[in-house]
Amino acid sequence: MHNEIKEVLISEEEIQAKCKEIGDQLTEEYEGRFPLAIGVLKGAMPFMGDLLKRIETHLEMDFMDVSSYDGMRSSGEVKIEKDLNTQVEGRDLLIIEDIIDSGLTLSYLVDLFKYRKAKSIKIVTLLDKPTGRTSHIKADVVGFEVPDEFVVGYGLDYDEKYRNLPYIGVLKPEVYGG
Ligand code: XMP
Ligand code: MG
Repeated sequence: MHNEIKEVLISEEEIQAKCKEIGDQLTEEYEGRFPLAIGVLKGAMPFMGDLLKRIETHLEMDFMDVSSYDGMRSSGEVKIEKDLNTQVEGRDLLIIEDIIDSGLTLSYLVDLFKYRKAKSIKIVTLLDKPTGRTSHIKADVVGFEVPDEFVVGYGLDYDEKYRNLPYIGVLKPEVYGG
């Protein structure tokens, strides 16, 4: 699997250090509260796991699965595949994402949670690809900015593969027939 990676953009060590840094920040911000951490499946799963271990306050976890991507392109439409099991009304929400590209997924989720009367909404994303943005969404906390390249690993997939890499990398073009 590793020999299909052209370049490691963000190493495992850098990711873990960033989780600790963001975790410390969120520990302070949510001190004495009981936020609902919402992981956007499947991509946010490794980041959510590592990040939440670094937050030293009580919190609740839930998951949403939405799809807007088809292979390597955004289909432009967001569909709920799995909804929350938790009421968000009056709650402090911490949305955890793997990457913001167009921003469509998150602007859809933020609108949905506002409609459901969340008390506050904070967006944490491991990666931000600002060049891809077509909506006005902005994350409150960004781990790393990435260039306009398709990245895989640490939750991010190409045709469901590479999510289990411990780092973020770029695929060799021959892997996707480029
Ligand atoms: P939008 O465009 O809605 O996209 O901000 C968010 C979702 O799109 C997926 N995405 C990627 N997945 N490599 C991936 O493996 C990428 O470079 C990439 N860019 C966007 C991802 O699932 C994210 O949650
Ligand atoms: Mg995703």
